[in-house]
Amino acid sequence: MPDTKKEIERRRTFAIISHPDAGKTTLTEKFLLYGGAITLAGMVKGKRNSRHAVSDWMEIEKQRGISVTSSVMQFQYDGYCINILDTPGHQDFSEDTYRTLMAADSAVMVIDASKGVEAQTRKLFKVCVMRDIPIFTFINKMDRDSLSPYDLLDDIEKELGIGTYPMNWPIGSGVDFKGVYDREKGEVLMFEPEGENAGRKEVKEQDFSLEDAALKQAIGDSLYTTLADDVELLDGAGYEFDLEKVRHGKLSPVFFGSALTNFGVEPFLESFLKLTTPPLSRETSHGVVDPQDDAFSAFVFKIQANMNKAHRDRIAFLRICSGKFEKGMEVEHVQGGRKMKLSQPQQLMAQSREIIEEAYAGDIIGVFDPGVFSIGDTLCSPGKKIRFEGIPTFAPELFSLVRQKDTMKRKQFVKGATQIAQEGAIQIFQEIDSGMEEIIVGVVGSLQFDVFQYRMENEYNVDIYMQTLPFQFIRWIDNEEIELKKLNLTSDTKKVQDTKGRYLLLFSNQWSINWALEHNEGLLLSEFSRS
Ligand code: G4P
Repeated sequence: MPDTKKEIERRRTFAIISHPDAGKTTLTEKFLLYGGAITLAGMVKGKRNSRHAVSDWMEIEKQRGISVTSSVMQFQYDGYCINILDTPGHQDFSEDTYRTLMAADSAVMVIDASKGVEAQTRKLFKVCVMRDIPIFTFINKMDRDSLSPYDLLDDIEKELGIGTYPMNWPIGSGVDFKGVYDREKGEVLMFEPEGENAGRKEVKEQDFSLEDAALKQAIGDSLYTTLADDVELLDGAGYEFDLEKVRHGKLSPVFFGSALTNFGVEPFLESFLKLTTPPLSRETSHGVVDPQDDAFSAFVFKIQANMNKAHRDRIAFLRICSGKFEKGMEVEHVQGGRKMKLSQPQQLMAQSREIIEEAYAGDIIGVFDPGVFSIGDTLCSPGKKIRFEGIPTFAPELFSLVRQKDTMKRKQFVKGATQIAQEGAIQIFQEIDSGMEEIIVGVVGSLQFDVFQYRMENEYNVDIYMQTLPFQFIRWIDNEEIELKKLNLTSDTKKVQDTKGRYLLLFSNQWSINWALEHNEGLLLSEFSRS
C-alpha cells in the first residue's frame, strides 16, 4: 500500500465530550499516557486547586474551572495515529461543541457514574446525537458509589434517544467495586485500586471466567449472584450488538471503568479503535470526497484568537478531509476565490504547538489566519473547486445591547466585536442602517456573554456596558424585497440587520411571531440565515 494510503488508514479522529468534572481530562490524560505522548499523569491537568487542562487557554477558563475553547491532541497507539478533539465542558458552548463534532468521525462521551446524564448537559450530549457519528460511552468513577448500571443505560437511552450496548458490566461500585465483566471475552477483569496518578497499569490477559470457582471467592457470594443474574439478563434480553447501528450513531457501546485509577481505560481504547473506522468520506457541492483522493481538501471548523498572548495571533483549525498536506504547499481558498500558501501549519499537542511538515486526511492542523477565513470555508488543491457542506449556525436565544464605555475606543470596539463574531463565539446585529456605536449581541448560552465581556476588556482593551434585552427568538426575513417600514409588528418586536446586511426580527415571544405572520401577507421568516 502506498505510504499516504497507509497513513490515512491508520488515522482515528474523535471528539471527547462530558459534563464538567465527569473525568474527561483524566481520561484524555490516560490515553496520552498509553500512547507515550506524555510520560507522567498530571501533565495535561493543572495542579490541584487550579483545575484546568492545558487545553484550556483562556484565563476565564482557569477562573471558572470550565473549558471554553476546544483543543486538539494527537498521539500514536498500537500503530494507530489518533487525533482527540477536546470540547468545552459546558452546554452554553454547545455550538462550539457541534462545530468540533463536524471535524470528528466519532465521539466519546464521558459520564459520571454517580450522576448519569445531568440536566445542564443534556443539550451538549444532544448535539452529539445530531451528527449521526458513532458515540462511545465511558461511564467513569466506578470506584465511587454509583447509580445502578441499568438506570445509567436507561438514562442515556431516554435522554439521548439512542440505544446502548454494555460492552462490559460492573461488579459493585464504590468501596465494593470489584471489577468488570468483559462480555465479549467472557472474563472478569479484577479491579486493583491504585494510588491517584499511578503509572500505566498492565491489563491482565485473563483474570477470571464467570464459571471460575475462584471468582465467587474473590468477589463474594452476593456480588457473584448479582453478576450471574445480570449477565443472564443482558445476554437474554434486548441488548443486541449491531455494528451498523454503532457506525450510524444509533447504538452506543458502553464501557464502565475508572479513569483515575487506570481501570478499564486501555480495554476501552482498544475496543474503540477496533470498532471505529478510518476517516470518513464527506459530502461536497461536487459529490462525495473520499479521504484517499489524491487531491488535498480541508475545511475550517474553528477559528481561535489569541491563543498565544505574546503573539496575539489567530489560528484557523482545519480538518483535512482528503489527501496529504505538505508544508508550503499551495492551496485554493474556495470562498476567498484565491490561491494561497498556508503559513505556519501547526499541530497542537497538549501544551505545545509545533510546526509540521506534513499531515494526512483525518488530521487537524492549525494555520495562521490573517483574517480571511470564516467557519465552514473550504481549502483544496488548486482547481478542485469543491465546497464542503456548511456548518450551521445555532439561532441565538439570549440578547444584550452592548456599548463601549469610552467612545474614543470605537475602533477597538468594532474590531473586537467583529473578530469575536467571526470566530463564531457570538453573533452581532445592529439597528437598521446604523453604525456600530451600539450593537446587539446574540448568544446561545449566557456564559458566552461573560467570555465576550472578558475578551473585549482583556484582549481588545475596551470596557463595555451590557444590557440584557428581553428577546428570545430570532427570525431572518427571507423575502428578497421588503419594505421594512410597512411591516405590521407588535411593539416589542425589533428590526435589525446582521453583519452581512440581512434583515431580521427579534421577538420576545411566540405570540409576536404569529402576529407578524398573520398581519403581513407573504412575509417569509426563517430560523437560520441563508449563507
Ligand atoms: P473534566 O475534565 O471532565 O472536568 O474532569 P476531570 O478529569 O478534571 O476530573 C474531575 C475530578 O474527578 C478530578 O478530581 C479527578 O481527579 C476526578 N476523577 C476523574 N476520574 C475519576 C475516577 O475514575 N474516580 C474518581 N474517584 N475520581 C475521578 P478533583 O479533585 O476535582 O480534581 P483535582 O483537584 O484532583 O485535580
